[in-house]
Order: sequence, then C-alpha cells, then structure tokens
Amino acid sequence: MTQTVSRPGAGAQQVPLPLDVGAIRADFPILTRTVRDGKRLVYLDSGATSQKPRSVLDAERWFYENINAAPHRGAHQLAEEATGAYEEARAKIGAFIGAPEREIVFTRNTTEAINLVAYALSNAVTAKEPEFRTYAVGQGDEIVVTEMEHHADLIPWQQLCERTGATLRWLGLTDDGRLDLSNLAEVINERTKLVAVTQQSNILGTINPIGEIVARAREVGALVLVDGAQSVPHQPVDVTELGADLLVFSGHKMLGPTGVGVLWGRYEVLDKLPPFLTGGSMIEVVRMEGSTFMPPPQRFEAGVPMTAQVVGLGAAVDYLQALGMAKVEEHEKALTGYALAKLAEIPGVTVIGPADTVARGGAVSFTVEDIHPHDVGQVLDDLGIAVRVGHHCAWPVVRRYGVPATTRATFYVHTGYDDIDALADGIREAQRFFGVAPSGDSEGATS
Ligand code: ALA
Repeated sequence: MTQTVSRPGAGAQQVPLPLDVGAIRADFPILTRTVRDGKRLVYLDSGATSQKPRSVLDAERWFYENINAAPHRGAHQLAEEATGAYEEARAKIGAFIGAPEREIVFTRNTTEAINLVAYALSNAVTAKEPEFRTYAVGQGDEIVVTEMEHHADLIPWQQLCERTGATLRWLGLTDDGRLDLSNLAEVINERTKLVAVTQQSNILGTINPIGEIVARAREVGALVLVDGAQSVPHQPVDVTELGADLLVFSGHKMLGPTGVGVLWGRYEVLDKLPPFLTGGSMIEVVRMEGSTFMPPPQRFEAGVPMTAQVVGLGAAVDYLQALGMAKVEEHEKALTGYALAKLAEIPGVTVIGPADTVARGGAVSFTVEDIHPHDVGQVLDDLGIAVRVGHHCAWPVVRRYGVPATTRATFYVHTGYDDIDALADGIREAQRFFGVAPSGDSEGATS
C-alpha cells in the first residue's frame, strides 16, 4: 500500500534558505562541469554519495604531497607528522558527534562498521578472554532490526544469526512510511541482544524515534546500534543525546572522501568486543603461540589505515561545522517541504514515505504512474539531472509498499530551489515523452 502526497492548496512555497547556495556551489569544483551535451549538472544523488568541496580535495592532496607515511609505525619525521594528522582528525570527527577520540574507530564505510560489530558478536562466542565473551550471541538470543533498514544494516545481522543460531526479528512499517512501534515491547524483549535501526531511512526519508527504541532496549539490557549513514551528514547528532551504544556512518556521504567510515561506540562496550580484522597495529604482544590485542580504538584498526581519507574527512567536518549543522538541517527541511509540494502538483506522482516534513529528512522517493522508475531516471539524466533509481539497497521497503522500484532525489548543502524545479519539470517531460501526461495538468500542458 502506498501513501499519496497530499495536495496543498497554496502550492509550493520558497521560504528563504538558511544556506547561501551560490557561495556553496562555488566551493564544489564538480558543479562547474556540464553533462549530456552542455546541460547544468543538477546533482540530486547526495544520498548515494556526496560531492566534495575544494577544501576536502586540498586536504587529501596536502597529505600526500607533504607528510605521506604510515601512521603509528616508523620513527621518522613523516611518520610522526602523519600520525599527528590522523589522530588530530580522529579528535575532530569525535567532537563532531560529541564523542571522545578513544571511542572513534575508523572503518572503510558504514557497511564495514556494521560488519565489524556483527563479526565481533560471533567471534565473542569462541573468544578465549572471558571479557570478550560479554556480548556473545547464540541460540535463543534475538537480534532486532526494522523493515526499513538498508541492506548494510540487515544482511550482516541475517548472517550473524546464521552463524550463531540466533533469531532475527523486525519492526514493521506503517502505510505512511513510519516505523510501526505498536508491538515494540513484544519484538524487543528479554531475549534481545542487539537492536539495529537506521536514524534516517535512505529511501523513505523517515527520521526514527531512536529515544523510544533505546528506552525499550535499556529495559531488557539490549545493545542499540544506530545506522547514521543518512543522518550524521544532514542533522546535528550528539551521541550522548542519542543514548545508543554504537553509531556508524560514512565519510563519503558527508562531503568527505570515499574509503573512510566511522564506528563510534561507548568505550565500555567497545572494550568488551573482540577484534574483527586482525594483523598489524592492533596487537600488544605477538608470539608464535598466540597474541594479545590493543585497547580500542586500535584493536579494530588492523593494517595501515586510510590516512589521507581520514584527514580529508576532518576537512569535511570543518566545512560542515562552518556552515552549522542546525542550518544544514533547516536548509534541507525547507527543500524537502518544497519538493513534496512540487511533486504533489504533478498528477500521477506518488511519494513513498511521509507526506510532510515532520520527522522527515531530504530523501524523496516517488513513482510516476505508467512509467518505470528506470525510465524516469533516464529522461532526467538526459536533462542533466542525477537521481537514483531502483530499490536503493532497501529491497524490503519497496516490496512493503508494493512497487518494483522508485526514483529518488536526495538533497544537500548545495541544493537549491532551482534544482527541485528542474526535477519537477523533468518529471513532466518524462510524462510527455512516454505519452502519459495527465490532461488535468495545466502546468505540464504549457511548460
Ligand atoms: N546507501 C546509498 C544510497 O542510499 C548508496 O543510495
């Protein structure tokens, strides 16, 4: 069952945007290029990966040109400076979410961070050290997810259950794109070991009531992992306020480089997890008979890390903090309200997800009657508009709402009303191209 956007009588309103879109666009070199025979690039796919401001690109280049070396190894000046830059970035990225640096573990991305936790919970079963068995998962235990999770926050838990004999349970969705919490107390129960939930859905845009879920998890002593891949880049997130035990996010979705992600964990929790990847730099003592491991975060950072990328992510955090995360959130809220209203004006368009901006972020998924989402994406691409089409790595969600796929527009700091106008015009163009333009659409008929 799908939710159709309501049709506001007043039409789409352009409230003043808190961010200076023109100035911000000038910071992103890629936004000066054209696509598809000279068309302006309208980038509405930041939910998949964000574009990078010059300061992030410069920070990576600066690292390689000046201090490139493997951190935490080597006695030379470059190694010392690389270690300093890496650890300085860790402190900065921690401060961005209100966490001390020892609680910040660098991973490759959100997916790897979640796999790290899932493998740690099954490695705990056979760990020699009693401390490392604290969170061991086995038969009779339950892991709880939700039906709106990205595959990255679903499949690692399915696999954990297959490895350990635990059972996977989930919270369902309401027709209007929210979590169905009516059976929260039954789904999260004394057998629950961990609850994994997205803070903001990558497909519906829904922002979930993490506090309510954490409160129930606390009653039964379960850990809570929050997937912040689509929230940390777009709204202020403070781990103390969040109240969860673990938070994961990706650098590349928050103006940073690819290849770097973050696992934050409460230190007491991280300290009791056995390692996932093992090798150099995460050890205390190595003998042929066996080895002991460093405390967090080093225990989880085997091998030479993605040093330049971490430095680049530090620059991304600087950029976002200079804008102010509260303003970033407000900016996207205004754009989302405008987009929902613009789409509501187009007959045949159905938004999959909440119909207003209450507890909702800037991921707007929709279908266009009688046109496959991939065809909508094709026409938009011909016009220079980059969106994502498909199941968005959240297949159970499209199945829940009875559609094969959606077209999805996602916004960020450089997005302006002109981008959304281009999207709306592009959808009308797709309807004309496929001969399904509704006769009642006066704007479509004249534009
Ligand atoms: N997780 C990314 C998305 O939602 C790739 O598009």
